[in-house]
Amino acid sequence: MYVCACLALMWRTTCGLAAADTDNPTSRFSTTSTATKMGSTRLYSKGRVLGHKRAKRNTRPNTSLLQIEGVGSKEDAQFYLGKRVAFVYRAKAEVQGSKIRVIWGRVTRPHGNNGVVKSKFRSNLPPRAFGASVRVMLYPSNI
Ligand SMILES: *[C@@H]1O[C@H](CO)[C@@H](O)[C@H](O)[C@H]1NC(C)=O
Repeated sequence: MYVCACLALMWRTTCGLAAADTDNPTSRFSTTSTATKMGSTRLYSKGRVLGHKRAKRNTRPNTSLLQIEGVGSKEDAQFYLGKRVAFVYRAKAEVQGSKIRVIWGRVTRPHGNNGVVKSKFRSNLPPRAFGASVRVMLYPSNI
């Protein structure tokens, strides 16, 4: 019985995440722009923070693992190595007139064979970033 309720809850939360995903990404943080009117003009790939690099017991918070949308193999991940990543979040206090803050990082190397990548951020991602989406920029470019 308890397990059932727990599963149902998990299902609902993952569905909630998926629903949030389909939102127009530009509408969430930017103010009025032509981008929102024209529909999809997103110039980054979406990624999800899986957690810090870790072993069975110890975590290595200076490296974070990301799953990038549409990337399912080590070969696919090659394209993203070195790309800049932005974790955008809202904070309570305004800094320079904005409550929106960014932690920048870079994709450093693949993690395993299924398209997950390692990344390093200027300051370690906080645990509240786990499960959150990040913007994987398409620069610096080598094409
Ligand atoms: C990352 O963190 C781990 C654990 O705190 C530490 O052992 C390692 O030296 C750090 N690496 C870098 C490059 O700072």
